[in-house]
Amino acid sequence: MYAICGATGNIGRIIAERLLDQGRKVRVIGRNAKKLQPLADRGADAIVADLTDTKAITKAFTGATAVYVLIPPNMTAKDVRKYQNRIGESITTAIKNSGVRHVVNLSSVGAHKSEGMGIVNGLYDQEQRLNKLEGVNVLHLRPSFFMENHLWQLNTIKEHGMLASTMKADTPVAQIATADIAEFAVKRITDLDFTGKVTRELLGPNDVTMTDVATAIGTAIGTKNLNVQQVSLDDTRKHMLGMGASESVVDSMIELYEAVNKGTWSPTEQRRPENTTPTTIEAFSRTFSTLYEKQ
Ligand SMILES: NC(=O)c1ccc[n+]([C@@H]2O[C@H](COP(=O)([O-])OP(=O)(O)OC[C@H]3O[C@@H](n4cnc5c(N)ncnc54)[C@H](OP(=O)(O)O)[C@@H]3O)[C@@H](O)[C@H]2O)c1
Repeated sequence: MYAICGATGNIGRIIAERLLDQGRKVRVIGRNAKKLQPLADRGADAIVADLTDTKAITKAFTGATAVYVLIPPNMTAKDVRKYQNRIGESITTAIKNSGVRHVVNLSSVGAHKSEGMGIVNGLYDQEQRLNKLEGVNVLHLRPSFFMENHLWQLNTIKEHGMLASTMKADTPVAQIATADIAEFAVKRITDLDFTGKVTRELLGPNDVTMTDVATAIGTAIGTKNLNVQQVSLDDTRKHMLGMGASESVVDSMIELYEAVNKGTWSPTEQRRPENTTPTTIEAFSRTFSTLYEKQ
């Protein structure tokens, strides 16, 4: 049996679906029974629990061959690092008390640094915490910028005909499709081919600029000359606060954007076949276009 946290999210859902496709026993964890139901309908054991509920997730992890864990986003957290640490401690205790021996932990590029990476610093804390577990094999996946982040721009593109970007338009950044992270995780938790504490960056197929992203999305949705509008950090702050994000979350995201633009948030591994994943920004843009049509 495999226990999958965040099973209704981008990555966890695909991991659970692939494991079910392979006829494996899966326990899926999330806070919303309705969202978990499609997986339950396919035979997964659905556990409705908050990741801060250590007792419930210890029970959910017990008997698992491997677990997939993450620290989910919480846009309204009053103190985001404190929130991340609370979830991280709960997950770590549950792993320890359940006796599970293989863990795939969703982390991020930049999680080798304790400061200056904004929201990613909470993932550094979690890597360190999990590394202290004795007798548990932990693979920290450190993916780069998710292509799915561009889905937040569906409305902006529809209403204003442009792609807004806090990242510099001409800076190449490794971008990855979350489905590729899920496929990689499935392989690792079924092959169990990691021992000790290891990290693996996942960097998408190539580095792309926001101008490249605009060209790919523009082509897919049939909008010629989709331009990138550079958004200042101040305007990003105002926009995020207006959307209901907490001051703490906004501060940590601004710090991360600054790190991206300065180039201090960057992979540590050289690109090579092992950390390169297949889905291109053009292929992702076709998925984007389907959702754009449905808007
Ligand atoms: N965005 C990026 O570019 C990027 C890059 C590198 C790493 N990351 C990492 O990726 C993570 C997001 O992964 P994702 O996109 O696969 O997730 P996601 O789509 O944001 O989904 C989050 C999942 O966690 C569940 N969840 C949220 N809060 C929970 C709680 N308190 N207790 C139990 N379950 C909870 C959600 O379900 P319910 O709400 O129904 O409970 C959902 O299944 C980020 O938090 C970050 O750590 C992101």
